[in-house]
Amino acid sequence: MSAATTLERTAPLYEKVRSVIPPMEWPVFADDIEAILALKKQRDAVILAHNYMTPEIFHCVADIVGDSLALAREAMKVDAKVIVLAGVHFMAETAKMLNPSKTVLIPDVEAGCSLAASITAADVRLMRGRYPGVPIVTYVNSTADVKAESDICCTSGNALKVVESLGVPAVIMLPDEFLAQNIAAQTKVKIIAWAGHCEVHERFTAAEVRALRADHPGVTILAHPECPPEVVAEADYAGSTADMSAFVGREKPRRVVLLTECSMADNISVHHPDVDFVRPCNLCPHMKRITLPKIRRALETMTHEVTIDPTLAERARLTVERMLAVR
Ligand code: 13P
Ligand code: SF4
Repeated sequence: MSAATTLERTAPLYEKVRSVIPPMEWPVFADDIEAILALKKQRDAVILAHNYMTPEIFHCVADIVGDSLALAREAMKVDAKVIVLAGVHFMAETAKMLNPSKTVLIPDVEAGCSLAASITAADVRLMRGRYPGVPIVTYVNSTADVKAESDICCTSGNALKVVESLGVPAVIMLPDEFLAQNIAAQTKVKIIAWAGHCEVHERFTAAEVRALRADHPGVTILAHPECPPEVVAEADYAGSTADMSAFVGREKPRRVVLLTECSMADNISVHHPDVDFVRPCNLCPHMKRITLPKIRRALETMTHEVTIDPTLAERARLTVERMLAVR
């Protein structure tokens, strides 16, 4: 396949991302994109991509994009034989437990998450022993064995609903301390937290938000609920990555800041050329491990397959299903 032909064939795809990918970078991506599109057909595979994937993945090879909640819901419905999870490991595990007959591949097994790494199954058992009878609500950003020890999962998109659905005076919320505190500010339910943090969102500060307002008068500031509560308090709105995207589509702010991972603004800006995205952002080193060459290799070699012990997977799946049943 000549490079010129590949460039010609991928030109319509480049049109979608030309505002965020300089023309000189496109030839580096085009060959992998074409190969991945062919491999998806050959392998009967679909690519589920999180909102933090880079634009060439998000807009050019993904079949389904979304926040953790949407990816979990969509994973259940996949008919294809193979799911490639372009995101971090807990997302691939969640897809596998919800659709166990599928082959689930993650392009880089090292794509972890500081929240998932902050707690073990033994820690969850200790919390249960310390607070007998108090339900354990665990963020999906956790390993399958931590989920298996929990009562119900939540994401940043449904945490408040999940907590209030239980009809109890107190819950344990693991492992994100800031998400727990941000939810506590919106409910009468007493929240017992764990000291896990997202290494990306914990770095935003309230002083930074104030400086942004001073530098960009009239700017709308959106924060992910993994940010510290003082940052959320200074923001105009807090929500999951999907909620932030929906906010921009609905409210069409003239100028906006997304206090979250860097690829979010790139991906949304493609659909909103009239919105000015001010871009202080933090990169997630785990999400950024997922690249086009690694997705291509995953499909060529059918690696790295995500497997979960079936008994553990069954217990973990129940906690995710309980969450998905909350409307
Ligand atoms: P969302 O569920 O909002 O997409 O968040 C996932 C995540 O990892 C945020 O850091
Ligand atoms: Fe985990 Fe934070 Fe990266 Fe999301 S952004 S995957 S919570 S480390």
